[in-house]
Amino acid sequence: MLDRNKIRDDFPMIKSEEAKGRIYLDSAATSFKPQCVIDKVMDYYTKENANIHRGDYDLSYQVSSEYEEVRKLCAKFLNADSEREIIFTNGASSSLNLVAYGYGQKFLKEGDIILSTEAEHASNILPWFKVQEVTGAKIEYIPLDKEGIFDMEGYKRLLNELGDKVKVITLAHVANVLGNIVPLKEIIEEAHKVGAVVVVDGAQSVPHIKTDVRDLDIDFLCFSSHKMLGPSGVGVLYGKYELLEKMDPFMLGGGSNARFDICGNILLKEPPFKFEAGTPCVEGVLGFGEALKYLMAIGMENVEEEGKELHDYFMKRMLELDNVEVYNPKSETSIVTFNVKGIFAQDAAGYLNSQGIAVRSGTHCAKILLNVIGVSETIRASLYLYNTKEEIDRVIEVLKETTLEKCIGAIL
Ligand SMILES: Cc1ncc(COP(=O)(O)O)c(C=O)c1O
Repeated sequence: MLDRNKIRDDFPMIKSEEAKGRIYLDSAATSFKPQCVIDKVMDYYTKENANIHRGDYDLSYQVSSEYEEVRKLCAKFLNADSEREIIFTNGASSSLNLVAYGYGQKFLKEGDIILSTEAEHASNILPWFKVQEVTGAKIEYIPLDKEGIFDMEGYKRLLNELGDKVKVITLAHVANVLGNIVPLKEIIEEAHKVGAVVVVDGAQSVPHIKTDVRDLDIDFLCFSSHKMLGPSGVGVLYGKYELLEKMDPFMLGGGSNARFDICGNILLKEPPFKFEAGTPCVEGVLGFGEALKYLMAIGMENVEEEGKELHDYFMKRMLELDNVEVYNPKSETSIVTFNVKGIFAQDAAGYLNSQGIAVRSGTHCAKILLNVIGVSETIRASLYLYNTKEEIDRVIEVLKETTLEKCIGAIL
């Protein structure tokens, strides 16, 4: 059983004086950080500030080995075959761009098909638009129903029609506006039957759901540290080793090559190092290690199960409100997307802010989802393990009494 009050004590953004009365419902944008993560970042600057993989002195050696320990821990967290399959990037966007560039632009050609969905975040569609432009491959969209739910029959039909022309399938395990979980195992099984590689955007799933890359047989998985209690500026690209070996790096530079000569010949290192040119966000990776330890101590099964319970309570109460329209009643993790009827999303979000409630409004970087759910501007409220039922009850009370006049009053 997850002790939410004990957990809340670990977060300065919740327990500090300034935080009194604040209800944070924007963890899908970025999560709060527990003290252990903050301490680790501080420790790096105060006790162990050195570059990694470069110095011939104890401090550099020590921090390099700690950095590599985080890579091992991350491999364990994902049940990857080896830490050599974990590449540190600076965020999910960076990881997704790396796959699109290093795999998509290198191996795709005219006539090839990339399958995706209309629910994707910009970071998992714009890089593939570029692949389309550079290679002549085409993106096709897997059908979604009116509520944005993945249509398995439609997907199978597409695979049947297009067969081995489909080279890449790229989609979010949990989409950032809809919050439902796609049946990833079956999607991947079907993709592999036609020889396609599956790229999973795990930005909204890895923080909430136990993700076993071997069990799911994921080819590439991309996610960010800052959405799962870790520092900003750090992301992960997990890739099957044989795919990483043949992929190109996005950046070249120090640390990623074994040698180069005056004629321009470069011998790159093996993965993951060939992808990590330049000085990385060392303190961020060390802090991310603490975030992983924190989540692993709670147990991702517990995070998932109790997260779902809190989400279901929130959704149930939201669906009871007559003045609120919920767009993702089938959401399963953390995210509730809605509007207060007759009130522009930004105005209602501004009013909620005046009541101490932090939510996000707008298109949430999923601009083509409008085609599916029929509305572009929405409010998104997202939960994490430090939110409570009491907070949800307060949000419901405020929403119940939200009127256009109050919203205008909050803006003026
Ligand atoms: C589904 C999804 N993918 C990708 C991203 C991009 O993550 P980042 O901004 O950390 O690179 C986000 C961020 O909100 C997201 O929700």
